[in-house]
Formats: sequence, structure tokens, C-alpha cells
Amino acid sequence: MKMERSWGSVMKKAMVLLLLMTIGEGDPIPRQWPERFHAVLYMNISDGRLQITDLWYDWSAGRNVNLIQKQLGDLLHDVEWNNGTSYYYTVGPNSTNDGDCNVREFGVGIPRPDFLDDATYLRMEYTDGFLCNLWTKLDFIWYWEDVLTQIPVRWDFYDGISSHVMKFEEGVELDKSQWQAPSYCFKTLDNNGTLLLQDHNNKQYVPNHAS
Ligand SMILES: *[C@@H]1O[C@H](CO)[C@@H](O)[C@H](O)[C@H]1NC(C)=O
Ligand SMILES: *[C@@H]1O[C@H](CO)[C@@H](O)[C@H](O)[C@H]1NC(C)=O
Ligand SMILES: *[C@@H]1O[C@H](CO)[C@@H](O)[C@H](O)[C@H]1NC(C)=O
Ligand SMILES: *[C@@H]1O[C@H](CO)[C@@H](O)[C@H](O)[C@H]1NC(C)=O
Repeated sequence: MKMERSWGSVMKKAMVLLLLMTIGEGDPIPRQWPERFHAVLYMNISDGRLQITDLWYDWSAGRNVNLIQKQLGDLLHDVEWNNGTSYYYTVGPNSTNDGDCNVREFGVGIPRPDFLDDATYLRMEYTDGFLCNLWTKLDFIWYWEDVLTQIPVRWDFYDGISSHVMKFEEGVELDKSQWQAPSYCFKTLDNNGTLLLQDHNNKQYVPNHAS
């Protein structure tokens, strides 16, 4: 086999490189979220409380799950659906109220994979020891992404809650047992066929930002 490197082919490579560099001259934009990923988040709530959250994002299933371990507390399942319904529940005999569930209706679904496309680029900076690009969107979220790998490193919300990404794996799927809301999240129909959302103590939740 001939190992000849012609001047022409070197030039061609140089041109392609140059082109890529020119294209890359505008502000960088964050990489879109993979359709499915799992992230382990170390979170510092603004008042100093800590929690570990397992985030299971699944755009194709229309589902975003947060398994929230508060320090020395219950494991809270927060299952958010793209139709705006969220289930918050604990499981197990020793969890709050022996397993409790809250159903809430939010006007919005889960974040789209491209929800950061129109974020405003701020600058490059180090955070958590990684050289990152930093964006903000609507003064609602600040988002740091590793410059080399384009993996998110950290994001902060306007209310001071800071999430540090300890692990990020793509394409993995959460087991159904972890996102299927338990029976005590579900309700009965009243005489007129209207859906009543109840927790397991038969308290009724008004489906509108009930807290
Ligand atoms: C959590 O955040 C607060 C406020 O920014 C800070 O004072 C504290 O040191 C942080 N704690 C940890 C464990 O990161
Ligand atoms: C949204 O989808 C979830 C999961 O399929 C379902 O449990 C819930 O009832 C739906 N909410 C509405 C308002 O349709
Ligand atoms: C629940 O708490 C009781 C009393 O503290 C303890 O004996 C039991 O092992 C706990 N069960 C679980 C599943 O943690
Ligand atoms: C069912 O409908 C009837 C007639 O519209 C009404 O009087 C009654 O209050 C309704 N019941 C409930 C539980 O909403």
C-alpha cells in the first residue's frame, strides 16, 4: 500500500479545519440534551440543605423523573409528565405517612431537548474544576457545559438552587417500578364521572398548583 501524502490532501484537510473554525466563530450554543439520560446531581438548596437527585430524563417517553434523596430524609419520587401532571410520592413503611402522594397539575410540560438553544452566551469560566462555557436563559437558569466534552457540569436556578453533575450517562432507561406512581396516587370517579385526585388518606387535591 502506498503511504503517499500528497500536498493536495494536506491542503484539503487544512481547508476543512479552517472552515470549521470559521463556522465556530459565533457564540457557542449548548449541546442539546440527549433524548434519554441519567444524571446524578449533588444539590445545594439555597438555605444550605443538601440532597442527591437522580435525574432520569426521557423525552421520547414524555417523562422526567427526579429521585430525590434529602439528607437523612425520605427518598422522594417526583415523576413529571409532558402533559403537565406531576406525581410526588414516597414509598415504604418508614417513609412519611407510610407512603404519601401529591398530584399536581402544572401548566407546562418537561424541558425540550433544545430548550437551551436560545440561551444567552456569557463567557468561559472554570466551575467545579472544569473549563466551561456558561449561558443564561431568561435570568432563570445559569448553565455550565464542559468545553471539551460538552457535558453539563452544573446549573443554577434563579432561586439559588445549585445542581452539580456528578455523573452523566446517555441512553439509559429507568425501571418502570421507579416511575409508575403507586395506587394511592390515584383516585376515584365521583358520581358524575369527574376524576378526583386523592392521596392515600383520601384527602382530595385540587388539580391546580396545590401545595
Ligand atoms: C451550600 O451553599 C451555601 C450558599 O451558597 C454555602 O454557604 C455552603 O457552603 C454550601 N454547602 C456545601 C456543602 O456546598
Ligand atoms: C398525564 O399522563 C400521565 C401518565 O400517563 C397520567 O397519569 C396523567 O393522568 C395524565 N394527565 C392528564 C391531565 O391527562
Ligand atoms: C422501619 O423502622 C423500624 C423501626 O425503626 C425498623 O425496625 C425497620 O427495620 C424499618 N424498616 C425499613 C424497611 O427500613
Ligand atoms: C353531579 O351533578 C349534579 C347535577 O349537575 C350536581 O347537582 C351534583 O352536585 C354533582 N355531584 C358532584 C359530586 O359533583
